[in-house]
Amino acid sequence: MLLLRAMNISVSSDATALGRVAAEQFVELAQAAILARGRFTVALSGGGTPRRMYESLSEPSLRHRVDWSRVEVFWGDERGVPPDHPDSNFRMASEALLDRVPIPRQRIHRIRAEIADRAAAARDYQTEIARAFEVNEAGPPPSFDLALLGMGADGHTASLFPGGESLREGRRWAVYVEAPQRPPPSRVTLTVPILNRAREIRLLVAGADKSATFRAVLQGPHEPARMPVQLIKPENGRMIWLVDEAAASGLERPVAARAAR
Ligand code: 6PG
Repeated sequence: MLLLRAMNISVSSDATALGRVAAEQFVELAQAAILARGRFTVALSGGGTPRRMYESLSEPSLRHRVDWSRVEVFWGDERGVPPDHPDSNFRMASEALLDRVPIPRQRIHRIRAEIADRAAAARDYQTEIARAFEVNEAGPPPSFDLALLGMGADGHTASLFPGGESLREGRRWAVYVEAPQRPPPSRVTLTVPILNRAREIRLLVAGADKSATFRAVLQGPHEPARMPVQLIKPENGRMIWLVDEAAASGLERPVAARAAR
Protein backbone atom coordinates (compact mmCIF):
# COMPACT_ATOMS: atom_id res chain seq x y z
CA MET A 1 0.00 0.00 0.00
CA LEU A 2 1.25 3.41 -0.96
CA LEU A 3 0.40 6.27 1.35
CA LEU A 4 0.14 9.78 -0.10
CA ARG A 5 0.56 11.28 3.34
CA ALA A 6 0.38 14.96 2.50
CA MET A 7 -2.98 14.57 0.83
CA ASN A 8 -4.35 11.90 3.16
CA ILE A 9 -4.72 9.39 0.35
CA SER A 10 -4.10 5.71 0.85
CA VAL A 11 -3.73 3.71 -2.37
CA SER A 12 -4.36 -0.04 -2.35
CA SER A 13 -3.57 -2.40 -5.22
CA ASP A 14 -7.18 -3.22 -6.02
CA ALA A 15 -10.72 -2.97 -4.69
CA THR A 16 -10.41 -6.11 -2.57
CA ALA A 17 -7.24 -4.84 -0.88
CA LEU A 18 -8.95 -1.49 -0.39
CA GLY A 19 -11.87 -3.21 1.32
CA ARG A 20 -9.45 -4.93 3.69
CA VAL A 21 -7.64 -1.67 4.53
CA ALA A 22 -10.95 0.08 5.20
CA ALA A 23 -12.12 -2.81 7.39
CA GLU A 24 -8.88 -2.72 9.41
CA GLN A 25 -9.30 1.02 9.95
CA PHE A 26 -12.89 0.44 11.09
CA VAL A 27 -11.60 -2.01 13.70
CA GLU A 28 -8.92 0.38 14.96
CA LEU A 29 -11.30 3.35 15.12
CA ALA A 30 -13.95 1.25 16.87
CA GLN A 31 -11.47 0.07 19.49
CA ALA A 32 -10.22 3.61 20.14
CA ALA A 33 -13.72 5.13 20.35
CA ILE A 34 -14.99 2.41 22.70
CA LEU A 35 -11.95 2.90 24.93
CA ALA A 36 -12.36 6.69 24.94
CA ARG A 37 -16.14 7.11 25.02
CA GLY A 38 -17.67 3.70 25.64
CA ARG A 39 -19.20 3.28 22.20
CA PHE A 40 -18.54 3.64 18.47
CA THR A 41 -20.99 5.54 16.27
CA VAL A 42 -20.65 4.91 12.54
CA ALA A 43 -22.55 6.04 9.46
CA LEU A 44 -22.41 3.38 6.75
CA SER A 45 -22.44 3.97 3.01
CA GLY A 46 -24.11 2.16 0.16
CA GLY A 47 -22.30 1.10 -3.01
CA GLY A 48 -20.17 -1.73 -4.30
CA THR A 49 -16.87 -0.53 -2.78
CA PRO A 50 -18.21 -0.36 0.80
CA ARG A 51 -19.78 -3.82 0.32
CA ARG A 52 -16.31 -5.31 -0.07
CA MET A 53 -15.26 -3.58 3.11
CA TYR A 54 -18.23 -4.99 5.05
CA GLU A 55 -17.52 -8.48 3.77
CA SER A 56 -13.92 -8.18 4.87
CA LEU A 57 -14.98 -6.87 8.28
CA SER A 58 -17.31 -9.82 8.80
CA GLU A 59 -14.47 -12.34 8.44
CA PRO A 60 -13.56 -13.92 11.80
CA SER A 61 -10.08 -12.38 11.98
CA LEU A 62 -11.51 -8.85 12.01
CA ARG A 63 -15.00 -9.20 13.44
CA HIS A 64 -13.69 -10.79 16.63
CA ARG A 65 -11.66 -7.67 17.35
CA VAL A 66 -14.74 -5.44 17.73
CA ASP A 67 -17.06 -5.28 20.76
CA TRP A 68 -20.25 -5.15 18.68
CA SER A 69 -22.43 -4.61 21.74
CA ARG A 70 -20.99 -1.07 21.81
CA VAL A 71 -21.35 -0.24 18.12
CA GLU A 72 -24.15 2.12 17.04
CA VAL A 73 -24.90 1.96 13.31
CA PHE A 74 -26.47 4.65 11.09
CA TRP A 75 -26.55 5.23 7.34
CA GLY A 76 -25.30 8.14 5.24
CA ASP A 77 -28.13 7.66 2.78
CA GLU A 78 -30.93 5.32 1.81
CA ARG A 79 -32.84 4.67 -1.36
CA GLY A 80 -36.66 4.95 -1.37
CA VAL A 81 -37.28 1.21 -1.29
CA PRO A 82 -38.35 -1.28 1.39
CA PRO A 83 -35.57 -2.71 3.58
CA ASP A 84 -35.73 -6.10 1.86
CA HIS A 85 -35.40 -4.63 -1.65
CA PRO A 86 -32.19 -5.48 -3.57
CA ASP A 87 -31.42 -1.72 -3.89
CA SER A 88 -31.69 -1.08 -0.15
CA ASN A 89 -28.49 0.13 1.52
CA PHE A 90 -29.80 -1.36 4.77
CA ARG A 91 -30.22 -4.75 3.11
CA MET A 92 -26.74 -4.59 1.60
CA ALA A 93 -25.08 -3.77 4.94
CA SER A 94 -27.20 -6.40 6.71
CA GLU A 95 -26.24 -9.16 4.29
CA ALA A 96 -22.57 -8.23 4.08
CA LEU A 97 -22.01 -7.42 7.76
CA LEU A 98 -24.75 -6.79 10.30
CA ASP A 99 -26.38 -10.23 10.09
CA ARG A 100 -22.98 -11.80 10.72
CA VAL A 101 -21.99 -9.94 13.88
CA PRO A 102 -23.54 -9.84 17.38
CA ILE A 103 -24.82 -6.27 17.22
CA PRO A 104 -27.92 -5.50 19.31
CA ARG A 105 -30.92 -4.71 17.05
CA GLN A 106 -31.71 -1.52 18.97
CA ARG A 107 -28.31 -0.15 17.98
CA ILE A 108 -29.11 -0.39 14.28
CA HIS A 109 -30.69 2.88 13.14
CA ARG A 110 -31.89 2.49 9.58
CA ILE A 111 -33.43 5.26 7.48
CA ARG A 112 -37.11 4.46 6.78
CA ALA A 113 -36.92 5.86 3.27
CA GLU A 114 -39.62 3.49 2.02
CA ILE A 115 -42.47 5.51 3.54
CA ALA A 116 -44.47 7.60 1.07
CA ASP A 117 -43.75 10.89 2.85
CA ARG A 118 -39.98 10.93 2.43
CA ALA A 119 -39.63 14.42 3.88
CA ALA A 120 -41.11 12.93 7.06
CA ALA A 121 -38.65 10.03 6.80
CA ALA A 122 -35.79 12.56 6.76
CA ARG A 123 -37.24 14.42 9.78
CA ASP A 124 -37.75 11.14 11.62
CA TYR A 125 -34.15 10.22 10.96
CA GLN A 126 -32.94 13.47 12.48
CA THR A 127 -35.08 12.69 15.55
CA GLU A 128 -33.66 9.17 15.70
CA ILE A 129 -30.07 10.44 15.51
CA ALA A 130 -30.75 13.06 18.21
CA ARG A 131 -32.24 10.39 20.48
CA ALA A 132 -29.33 8.02 20.00
CA PHE A 133 -26.78 10.78 20.69
CA GLU A 134 -28.91 12.30 23.47
CA VAL A 135 -28.73 15.77 21.94
CA ASN A 136 -31.35 18.39 21.04
CA GLU A 137 -32.57 17.84 17.50
CA ALA A 138 -32.98 21.58 17.01
CA GLY A 139 -29.35 22.19 17.89
CA PRO A 140 -26.06 21.60 16.09
CA PRO A 141 -25.47 18.10 14.70
CA PRO A 142 -23.59 15.51 16.78
CA SER A 143 -20.30 13.92 15.69
CA PHE A 144 -20.18 10.40 14.30
CA ASP A 145 -16.97 8.64 15.27
CA LEU A 146 -16.74 7.49 11.66
CA ALA A 147 -18.58 8.47 8.48
CA LEU A 148 -17.99 6.08 5.60
CA LEU A 149 -18.67 7.54 2.18
CA GLY A 150 -18.35 6.49 -1.44
CA MET A 151 -18.00 8.64 -4.53
CA GLY A 152 -19.89 8.17 -7.78
CA ALA A 153 -18.26 8.79 -11.16
CA ASP A 154 -20.44 11.93 -11.34
CA GLY A 155 -18.83 13.29 -8.16
CA HIS A 156 -21.77 12.60 -5.82
CA THR A 157 -21.33 11.30 -2.32
CA ALA A 158 -23.99 9.85 -0.01
CA SER A 159 -27.09 11.02 -1.98
CA LEU A 160 -25.73 14.55 -2.46
CA PHE A 161 -25.97 14.83 -6.23
CA PRO A 162 -24.59 17.46 -8.64
CA GLY A 163 -26.77 20.57 -8.83
CA GLY A 164 -29.06 19.41 -6.02
CA GLU A 165 -30.65 21.80 -3.52
CA SER A 166 -29.48 19.52 -0.73
CA LEU A 167 -25.94 20.78 -1.32
CA ARG A 168 -26.92 24.15 0.14
CA GLU A 169 -28.59 22.72 3.23
CA GLY A 170 -27.04 24.42 6.24
CA ARG A 171 -29.29 23.41 9.12
CA ARG A 172 -31.06 20.07 8.73
CA TRP A 173 -29.11 16.86 9.34
CA ALA A 174 -31.10 14.72 6.87
CA VAL A 175 -33.10 15.67 3.78
CA TYR A 176 -35.18 14.05 1.07
CA VAL A 177 -33.77 14.25 -2.48
CA GLU A 178 -34.88 13.25 -5.96
CA ALA A 179 -32.04 12.00 -8.14
CA PRO A 180 -33.59 11.11 -11.49
CA GLN A 181 -30.24 10.21 -13.02
CA ARG A 182 -29.55 7.54 -10.38
CA PRO A 183 -32.32 4.97 -9.97
CA PRO A 184 -33.96 4.46 -7.57
CA PRO A 185 -34.49 8.27 -7.68
CA SER A 186 -36.06 8.98 -4.29
CA ARG A 187 -33.50 9.11 -1.50
CA VAL A 188 -32.97 10.34 2.03
CA THR A 189 -29.47 11.56 2.75
CA LEU A 190 -27.44 13.01 5.57
CA THR A 191 -26.35 16.57 4.81
CA VAL A 192 -22.97 18.27 4.63
CA PRO A 193 -23.24 19.91 8.10
CA ILE A 194 -23.59 16.60 9.96
CA LEU A 195 -21.14 14.67 7.77
CA ASN A 196 -18.49 17.34 8.34
CA ARG A 197 -18.90 17.05 12.11
CA ALA A 198 -17.57 13.48 12.02
CA ARG A 199 -14.39 12.74 13.94
CA GLU A 200 -13.18 10.53 11.12
CA ILE A 201 -14.26 10.30 7.48
CA ARG A 202 -13.18 7.60 5.06
CA LEU A 203 -14.01 8.12 1.41
CA LEU A 204 -13.81 4.84 -0.52
CA VAL A 205 -13.17 5.08 -4.26
CA ALA A 206 -12.36 2.16 -6.56
CA GLY A 207 -12.23 1.65 -10.30
CA ALA A 208 -10.82 3.24 -13.44
CA ASP A 209 -14.22 4.74 -14.28
CA LYS A 210 -13.73 7.11 -11.32
CA SER A 211 -10.14 8.17 -12.06
CA ALA A 212 -11.00 11.31 -14.07
CA THR A 213 -13.47 12.50 -11.42
CA PHE A 214 -11.05 11.70 -8.61
CA ARG A 215 -8.38 13.76 -10.32
CA ALA A 216 -10.79 16.66 -10.94
CA VAL A 217 -11.98 16.58 -7.32
CA LEU A 218 -8.43 16.73 -5.97
CA GLN A 219 -6.55 18.69 -8.58
CA GLY A 220 -9.23 20.64 -10.43
CA PRO A 221 -11.04 23.85 -9.43
CA HIS A 222 -13.42 23.96 -6.47
CA GLU A 223 -16.78 23.32 -8.14
CA PRO A 224 -18.92 21.57 -5.54
CA ALA A 225 -22.18 22.14 -7.45
CA ARG A 226 -20.67 19.87 -10.10
CA MET A 227 -18.67 17.63 -7.73
CA PRO A 228 -20.52 17.53 -4.40
CA VAL A 229 -17.86 15.36 -2.79
CA GLN A 230 -15.69 18.50 -2.66
CA LEU A 231 -18.00 19.75 0.13
CA ILE A 232 -16.78 17.01 2.43
CA LYS A 233 -14.23 18.61 4.74
CA PRO A 234 -14.39 17.69 8.42
CA GLU A 235 -14.57 20.71 10.74
CA ASN A 236 -12.29 19.25 13.38
CA GLY A 237 -11.90 15.66 12.29
CA ARG A 238 -9.70 13.77 9.87
CA MET A 239 -10.55 12.63 6.38
CA ILE A 240 -8.68 9.95 4.49
CA TRP A 241 -9.30 8.88 0.90
CA LEU A 242 -9.04 5.10 0.56
CA VAL A 243 -8.64 4.40 -3.14
CA ASP A 244 -7.35 1.68 -5.44
CA GLU A 245 -4.62 2.08 -8.05
CA ALA A 246 -7.15 2.24 -10.88
CA ALA A 247 -8.95 5.21 -9.30
CA ALA A 248 -5.62 6.93 -8.53
CA SER A 249 -4.25 6.35 -12.02
CA GLY A 250 -5.44 9.72 -13.32
CA LEU A 251 -3.63 11.82 -10.70
CA GLU A 252 -1.10 14.24 -12.15
CA ARG A 253 2.44 13.06 -12.07
CA PRO A 254 3.86 15.52 -9.51
CA VAL A 255 1.48 14.06 -6.94
CA ALA A 256 2.39 10.51 -7.86
CA ALA A 257 6.08 11.42 -7.70
CA ARG A 258 5.68 13.07 -4.30
CA ALA A 259 3.86 10.00 -3.13
CA ALA A 260 6.68 7.69 -4.14
CA ARG A 261 9.26 9.49 -2.01
C1 6PG B 1 -25.67 5.05 -2.64
C2 6PG B 1 -24.38 5.47 -2.02
C3 6PG B 1 -23.49 6.25 -2.94
C4 6PG B 1 -22.29 5.39 -3.24
C5 6PG B 1 -21.53 5.87 -4.44
C6 6PG B 1 -20.39 4.96 -4.79
O1 6PG B 1 -26.56 4.71 -1.91
O2 6PG B 1 -25.74 5.02 -3.87
O3 6PG B 1 -24.33 5.72 -0.70
O4 6PG B 1 -23.12 7.50 -2.50
O5 6PG B 1 -21.44 5.33 -2.14
O6 6PG B 1 -22.42 5.93 -5.50
O7 6PG B 1 -20.89 3.70 -5.05
P1 6PG B 1 -19.99 2.56 -5.70
O8 6PG B 1 -18.93 2.23 -4.71
O9 6PG B 1 -20.94 1.43 -5.97
O10 6PG B 1 -19.45 3.13 -6.96
